[in-house]
Amino acid sequence: MAAVDKSEQAEPAAEGGIRRRDFLNIGAAAAGGVGAVAFLFPLINQMNPSADVLALAQIDVDVGPIQAGQAIKTMWRKQPIFIRNLTPAEQAAANAVDTGSLRDPQTLDERTKEGHRNWLITLGVCTHLGCVPLGAAEGEPKGEFGGYFCPCHGSHYDTAARIRKGPAPRNLEVPEYEFISDTSVRIG
Ligand code: FES
Repeated sequence: MAAVDKSEQAEPAAEGGIRRRDFLNIGAAAAGGVGAVAFLFPLINQMNPSADVLALAQIDVDVGPIQAGQAIKTMWRKQPIFIRNLTPAEQAAANAVDTGSLRDPQTLDERTKEGHRNWLITLGVCTHLGCVPLGAAEGEPKGEFGGYFCPCHGSHYDTAARIRKGPAPRNLEVPEYEFISDTSVRIG
């Protein structure tokens, strides 16, 4: 009669050849996995911005009422934002400029979105020392190039809000934004 291995007797193979000890090991590993996820989730969740922070990070603006030639000023992340509906003449003036002659060379196309070339959206913060330029509100001076004028030290921006004259080193900054409909813009 063949000798019987005692350990085989103590743990008979279950169906499919998996033993009880294997189940225990798998169970322990799975519990460890759940534990790790349960531990990590609060950490990861803590790193996500809260709903009120997200609300501040993005704003939706209805640009429908802004007529060609008009601009509005709004606030985003505690900074002024200019949203301007350029007329065909203002777009043509911006496109007629030799970008090689610019201090901060950029085309109007690079500063606007495809299909929405008339919408110029920039921070309303002069790139010299941070004053708020004039030109977004009705009747304000737009400077020598028809865009914005910073009265603090005399920087002139053109109809693409590019710096053309004065001490500012760069064009008015274009923030992250997208059109979420034909007349609604999400900034941030
Ligand atoms: Fe605008 Fe100096 S802050 S020109």
